[in-house]
Amino acid sequence: MSAGKKLFICQECGYETFKWLGRCPSCNSWNSFLESSPPSSRRDSPPARVSLLKDLPLRVDHRLRTGLLEFDRVLGGGAVPGSVILLGGDPGIGKSTLLLQVASRLSVGHEVLYVSGEESLHQLKLRAERINAGTELPVVMETALENILEVASRLRPGVLVIDSVQSCYRSELGGVPGSPVQVREVTAELVKLAKKIETVVFLIGHVTKEGVMAGPRLLEHMVDSVLYLEGDRGHSFRILRGVKNRFGSTNEIGVFVMEERGLAEVVNPSAFFVTRRSRSVQGAAVTASMEGTRPLLVEVQALVIPSCYATPRRASVGIDLNRAALIMAVLARHAGDSFVGLDTFINVVGGVRITEPAADLAVAAALVSSLKEKTIGSDTVVIGEIGLTGEILPVSDINIRLREGVKLGYQNYILPRASLTNLKDGPGTVNITGVDNIKEAIDACLLG
Ligand code: TYD
Ligand code: MG
Repeated sequence: MSAGKKLFICQECGYETFKWLGRCPSCNSWNSFLESSPPSSRRDSPPARVSLLKDLPLRVDHRLRTGLLEFDRVLGGGAVPGSVILLGGDPGIGKSTLLLQVASRLSVGHEVLYVSGEESLHQLKLRAERINAGTELPVVMETALENILEVASRLRPGVLVIDSVQSCYRSELGGVPGSPVQVREVTAELVKLAKKIETVVFLIGHVTKEGVMAGPRLLEHMVDSVLYLEGDRGHSFRILRGVKNRFGSTNEIGVFVMEERGLAEVVNPSAFFVTRRSRSVQGAAVTASMEGTRPLLVEVQALVIPSCYATPRRASVGIDLNRAALIMAVLARHAGDSFVGLDTFINVVGGVRITEPAADLAVAAALVSSLKEKTIGSDTVVIGEIGLTGEILPVSDINIRLREGVKLGYQNYILPRASLTNLKDGPGTVNITGVDNIKEAIDACLLG
């Protein structure tokens, strides 16, 4: 980019152009372009230095561990010095609480600095008292990026927490704090800082109503790792999900429960997410879902009722609505279970979100159970992906899933027949039914 050239940035999505435009070609917003000086990260970079790979020193992957196993695992075993970790989530979900706990734990053995731009030091103190943490933690209330960079360069902490990226701003840039231009510039500067002083930077970012990190997705590719803290305000479970990790796998989750004194780890999450009932009910099926390397037993519930609308309602919490539509279509074609004229509601208990197709059969079973007003056994686990052909497709990690069910005392398992050959332990004392197609599977699930 030539020096002195003007740059216009869309305040909605961050699209850049050298010419002012009335309408953004990327997000179609009107009048959203503001003139901006080119971000400092692009100015005057030193000439590039080329090295041979063999001459580069091999650094041992030294990670900072918090001792909160649910947290460390999602990071791939701890935080890597010099990396920037973005923690996103809805306002009020517990991001500040989690990072205060993390910072407090890391402050034993590491220099940590907690920068609060959202809350006064008094509020921070109250929270620390409440969760009984952080007495030795250095904190500063600051929102000006220049001052944050100055204090961090001076103290050179091993861990820097910025709460939040939306509250920081750079005074010479246009746009209010939290606008795409600001958020991006703040992040770019913090990334540079992290590399320069080899510190771990935890960056808190709020998620907007649309479900994207405010100061949009463009933040996600600037940082090394992106974690989301998810959960339902009405439930105390919190799931920490890695969606990007330059230093580990991305599909791990950590499970916490928000208590009076902060977030507590849930070591055996399956026991939390399923309701152990003594009697069978209609419209509830338990499945074993793999979340990263861990199995998680979850209960899928469905309610099917006559619709009073011309277009019936299709609502789903915790299962992708497109996936639910696909399952209903297969049920209609291959099992003769039609949902025409019926409202359908699906919910995964506990505020969990399941993205795995292995949960398909549980969704189908819960739907048909409610549709036909028949029960599913209370000690049955249903696992299988549903193909458009009506076939039940095999799933990965069948042994791990089965073991988790057995651990929690489930007796009956309805599994893809194609997965049975992979079973290692043999059935033992539990009953295993292999199924090939959706009709057979539903018949196996429903009691009376
Ligand atoms: P907070 O960490 O402030 O959320 P965020 O930073 O994501 O906006 O958490 C806010 C909620 O958590 C608030 O509703 C109170 C609740 N909470 C507890 O239940 N127990 C606790 O120990 C703490 C500190 C908060
Ligand atoms: Mg907060």
